[in-house]
Amino acid sequence: MMRLFALIFIGIVLSAKVYAEDLLETTELSRRALSMPMPLLDSEQKLGQFAAGRSLFNQMWVIAPSSDEDIDGLGPLYNSISCLACHSGNGRGHAPDGPTEKMRSMLVRLSIPGENPFHSEPHLVYGGQLQEFAVPGVPAEGRAEIHYEYSTIALSEGETVTLRKPSIKLVNPGYGEFGEVLTSARIGPALVGMGLVEMIDKQEILSWQDADDANADGISGRVNWIIDDATLTRKIGRFGYKASIVSLNEQIASAFQADLGLTSALFPEENCSDVQLACQQAVSGGKPELTAEQLQAVSFYLQFLAVPAPRDQSKPEVIRGRAVFDEAGCTACHRPQIKTSSTAKPAAFANRLIAPYSDYLLHDMGEELSDHRPDSGATGAEWRTAPLWGIGLAEKVGDRVGYLHDGRATTLLEAILWHGGEGQKSRDGVINMPKADRDALLQFLKSL
Ligand code: HEC
Ligand code: HEC
Repeated sequence: MMRLFALIFIGIVLSAKVYAEDLLETTELSRRALSMPMPLLDSEQKLGQFAAGRSLFNQMWVIAPSSDEDIDGLGPLYNSISCLACHSGNGRGHAPDGPTEKMRSMLVRLSIPGENPFHSEPHLVYGGQLQEFAVPGVPAEGRAEIHYEYSTIALSEGETVTLRKPSIKLVNPGYGEFGEVLTSARIGPALVGMGLVEMIDKQEILSWQDADDANADGISGRVNWIIDDATLTRKIGRFGYKASIVSLNEQIASAFQADLGLTSALFPEENCSDVQLACQQAVSGGKPELTAEQLQAVSFYLQFLAVPAPRDQSKPEVIRGRAVFDEAGCTACHRPQIKTSSTAKPAAFANRLIAPYSDYLLHDMGEELSDHRPDSGATGAEWRTAPLWGIGLAEKVGDRVGYLHDGRATTLLEAILWHGGEGQKSRDGVINMPKADRDALLQFLKSL
């Protein structure tokens, strides 16, 4: 009798767990795999809000003045006319294959060299980001060419892989020579589970820090603390490649301002430097150009995008691959399980075990991945552990995809082979392991 009771109890617990995940996840496998609403949006009204946010995310914004004030305000300087351009299907962007190809889902950050290894100043003329496009009457800033240096790496059992290392050359300056300038090229990352990332328990992230590598595993990892000037409190940065942005709203508003040229209450100033006069004088699409309701709608959309459910978890090769992932030390940074805060909002996001495969910490990834450009509290070599949830669907969602911050890797294996610094030991393990294990590891990544 007790046994039967226990079984029923376990049954209830298991189905409760499945039920909770069901509300956050999707099993969609089409090109829309990363674009579905969470099943917890269970009313017409909530799905309507989601759809409103989606249409703003997909919107091709227009130059002011226009006949539709709701969607104008693009520029004066901008990288793209829509969010979707760089986050196609909410998936990742890619890097051009050479200098003649345009960057379509990528941007280049700029700064001037300085003494501080963690922070740098924006370029005095060109600002913190190169905008390749401008409205009529305003010069565009120029173009970034990508050049590659190729090398070949040999793996166990005779396999070889060709890697390409990018360097950036700025051409066609719109406002005079660039002079001494530091660049950082970045592809649009996939946007998975943004609302849940914001709700990860702060203590969880803190507990993984090991700034002085006390456990001597070669992996330190540290929080990027961001000071809020207004309240003088410090918060954990979670968003962006340098984990330098605290909240989803701020991340979205800064994308609108820097990438599309749309001002909002959070970023009320147009993205023009002191010397870019035509930019400053261009017609505005409203003050601000993006209303609080529009910002809220995009935020709602990204917050409630369903997380893709892992696939093929009972396939022997995937089971083996998961073990290899652990044995190779990948889980030290790509954390497979994280708890969200007990006070998370909405309540459906509270106390959830999620699997983003990141620790949201900065790690020194070595010389080869460094862009030698200090940025918002991180050195050029430090990057936030890339979350891996949904990574196996990248090629389903996008026609062409890149991996790593600058899209230099065109396959998951290449991405692993670039790991240096704190990730060097893992990478060497992958090079030396039997091919069957390596293949299983890649199958596991494809199942996420
Ligand atoms: C020109 C390409 C481009 C456009 C256009 C663009 N993004 Fe991004 N997006 C990026 C890049 C690159 C990053 C990483 C930035 C960094 O860390 O420096 C990013 C990061 C993000 C992130 C954080 C992801 C994470 O894992 O932390 C969000 C959210 C986001 N973008 C939303 C938007 C929204 C909303 C829009 C439209 C307003 C937009 N993006 C437009 C390229 C773009
Ligand atoms: C020391 C921490 C660390 C370890 C250990 C580590 N990674 Fe990473 N991983 C990172 C960081 C940081 C990035 C992002 C680097 C960048 O964008 O330049 C990354 C990126 C990746 C990417 C590309 C993700 C994307 O979105 O483009 C893959 C795939 C990956 N890691 C797999 C692995 C595997 C498999 C292992 C184990 C063999 C591993 N990593 C070990 C920190 C780590």
